[in-house]
Amino acid sequence: MDRLLIRGGRQLSGEVKVSGAKNAALPILATALMVPGKVRFENLPHLNDVTTMLQLLGRMGVEVLLDDTGSVELDASHMNSIVAPYDLVRTMRASIVVLGPLLARAHEAEVSLPGGCAIGARPVNLHVKALERLGVEFEVTDGYIKGRAPGGLVGGKVLFEKITVTGTENVLMAAALAKGETIIENAAREPEVSDLADCLVALGAKIEGIGSDTLCIQGVEQLHGGTHRIIPDRIEAGTFLVAAAATGGSCTLTDCEPKHMDATLLKLEEAGAHIDRTDTTISLDMQGRRPKAVDITTVEYPGFATDMQAQFVALNAVAEGSGRVTETIFENRMMHIPEMQRMGAKIDLHGATASTTGVDRLKGAPVMSTDLRASASLVIAGLVADGETVVDRVYHIDRGYERIEEKLRRLGADIERVRV
Ligand code: EPZ
Repeated sequence: MDRLLIRGGRQLSGEVKVSGAKNAALPILATALMVPGKVRFENLPHLNDVTTMLQLLGRMGVEVLLDDTGSVELDASHMNSIVAPYDLVRTMRASIVVLGPLLARAHEAEVSLPGGCAIGARPVNLHVKALERLGVEFEVTDGYIKGRAPGGLVGGKVLFEKITVTGTENVLMAAALAKGETIIENAAREPEVSDLADCLVALGAKIEGIGSDTLCIQGVEQLHGGTHRIIPDRIEAGTFLVAAAATGGSCTLTDCEPKHMDATLLKLEEAGAHIDRTDTTISLDMQGRRPKAVDITTVEYPGFATDMQAQFVALNAVAEGSGRVTETIFENRMMHIPEMQRMGAKIDLHGATASTTGVDRLKGAPVMSTDLRASASLVIAGLVADGETVVDRVYHIDRGYERIEEKLRRLGADIERVRV
């Protein structure tokens, strides 16, 4: 099991290229199941979760051809299974995004219940209820969600009582090949949902309202092959910006999409960062100053992203003043707090609100977490700690960050991966 060894105290500076977005890549890869032909996706990030999704598609008979330019060609012409098995789904709950595509293409699906994860129960009840509106009959047996639509999917009206990113994505993909019109109200507006919609349109789907909370889909008989370039990862980008800000340093990100990051950039400016942006780059500069603490409440896009919450708690831990961070999306997404407290952070946790009083420096310590973003926040804490921090269970980080230690080293961090 790999570990990251970090010696803190350096101000970051330098330039880093942002990779393709994990949370766009996963549903977009699943659209290959919907096409009886070749599709090509570019700017695919090299991540464990992407590898797991490709394995899952391979198990269903999809031909996978990865090239060394970060692109992949998929061909589901000879798809031969509608089952997403437990051994893969348990390692990546986002596998649930094959549910919609399987129902759309084969009118049946058997997907292992993803089960909870460290940040919460992660139910899929809203996915099931919404897909039932499109004519799917479900039963849950032996730990699998089994859906069938013998006569095919029929368009209908879906109103999500709670905004769900992958729930919106599953219905969007199913609706693309349903008979007639589907309206999705209270749809998630995350850029990754819009990127999936853009990809489906490139494959022949008819979708209006992309980027809004109401999507209107006219079902088509069949999708055709095509190519789509995956958007940059706004959470990876935000993570590096927070790391540079926490160290009082600077950094320039290339191949990113600043327009997806307004909430994060505004909070970084509140923390004292000077931000310059072009269409595809962001430059942050703290001018050597310690960040100021900020108050944050996570909400659905375009509000402040829950996936950026832990990183800002790490920034607040060494910032000037006090800050309150409240998590409203997941019920258990504060596991980074006890680990940061062990590093000397002054954090009071009341329910889902972490109130922090910044300290000059944290103290390096052996730490670990069980959630992708919490683990990334511990790396940030290690960068601003005296001495050595060892972050264990790095496979969590590798799920969502491409070669994080190489990119941080490019920014001047003293960090190395240790195989144990
Ligand atoms: C997506 O998860 C992302 N994952 C998450 O990123 C992200 O944190 C989350 O959206 C919120 O932005 C992918 O896109 C692969 P939700 P998702 O359905 O779709 C509840 C990361 O770190 N809910 O929007 O699973 C749910 O429990 C990951 O990259 C139901 O109650 O999240 C949560 O409280 C972590 N029933 C809230 O809704 C349902 O059927 C939002 O969940 C579905 C969701």
